[in-house]
Amino acid sequence: MSSKRDFLTIWDLTAGEIECLLKRAIELKSGSDKNNCPLIGKSIGIFFEKPSTRTRVSFEAGIYQLGGQSIYLNPRELQLGRGETIADTARVLSRYLSGMVLRTYSHASAEEFASHATVPVINGLSDLHHPCQALADLMTILEKKGRISGIRLAYIGDGNNVANSLIEAAARTGISLTVACPEGYEPDPDIIERARNAMAKDSKGELIILRNPKEAAGRADVIYTDVWVSMGQEDKAEKKKTKLRDYQINGQLLQCAKNDAIVLHCLPAHRGEEITDEVMDGPNSAVFDQAENRLHTEKALLEFLIR
Ligand code: CP
Repeated sequence: MSSKRDFLTIWDLTAGEIECLLKRAIELKSGSDKNNCPLIGKSIGIFFEKPSTRTRVSFEAGIYQLGGQSIYLNPRELQLGRGETIADTARVLSRYLSGMVLRTYSHASAEEFASHATVPVINGLSDLHHPCQALADLMTILEKKGRISGIRLAYIGDGNNVANSLIEAAARTGISLTVACPEGYEPDPDIIERARNAMAKDSKGELIILRNPKEAAGRADVIYTDVWVSMGQEDKAEKKKTKLRDYQINGQLLQCAKNDAIVLHCLPAHRGEEITDEVMDGPNSAVFDQAENRLHTEKALLEFLIR
C-alpha cells in the first residue's frame, strides 16, 4: 500500500503539522536556507483546468527554487480532452512525476485523481476548497499578529471555497471565526458541521455565521474578503453582486475592527466591488504579503510531501 500523502483539504494536515509547516515557511522566507534543494531530479505536474496567477506561478517558482522541474499540463491538451479517464491519466502521470498540483472545477475530480495517483496530489483550488490559500493566510496572520490561536477573524462576503478552507483552518488552529454573508451564500454546511464538531471536541476555535458585516467586523483582528463571483459562476454574477453589495470592505466597515486589524484578500480583487482601493492600498492591508506567502508555504508543503 502506498504511503503517499495528499493535501486536498486542511484536514489532511494535523494541527502539529500545520504549526511545523508555518515555522518552516517563515524560515524559508528569511532566506537562511538558500541551498536547500530537496526536489533535485524530480518533476512536478501542474494540472490546471482554470486560470491562475498566484497558485501557478508560486508553485512553479517554488519547485524551481527547491531544485525541481515543473511541467504545466493544460487538460485540454492532454488525452483527457479526448476521453481518457481521470483514473488512467492519474496512474500514467504517477509513473513520470513525483507529485501533482491540481486546479479543478469539481472537488470530486481532485479526489478521484488523488485516489488513483500513486504520488502526492496537492489541491490548488477546487469548487469546495482552497487549502494552499489557507496555509498562506495562517502564515500572514502569524507574521503580523505573532499568534494564530485566539485571533478574531471576520470573513465578510461570499461563503465560497476560500471561506470553507478558512473554517477548517480555524478549527485546526483555534481561530475565532465569524462569517458574515447574505442568506443563500453561506459556506458549505457539511464543512461547517465538521469544523464545529472538531472545535467542540478539541475545545479550541469558534465559528459564528451571521448576516451583519459590521457585527462580524466588531473587534476583529483580521478582516478577510474574496471576490463575489468565483471562476465558473459568471452566469450568476448580477444576482450575486446585488445580494452582496452591503458586504464591501470599505473604510467605514474597517473602523468597526480593532485599530491594528489587518485586511486580507486572497486575490485577484475586483476593486470597487468587494473591497475599495482605500482599504486595499491602505495601512491595514496585508494582501501583498499574503500573496507572497503563497510561495513560502507551498515550498514548505512540497518539502514535506514530496519524497
Ligand atoms: N488566490 C489565488 O488562488 O490566486 P490565483 O487564482 O491567481 O491562483
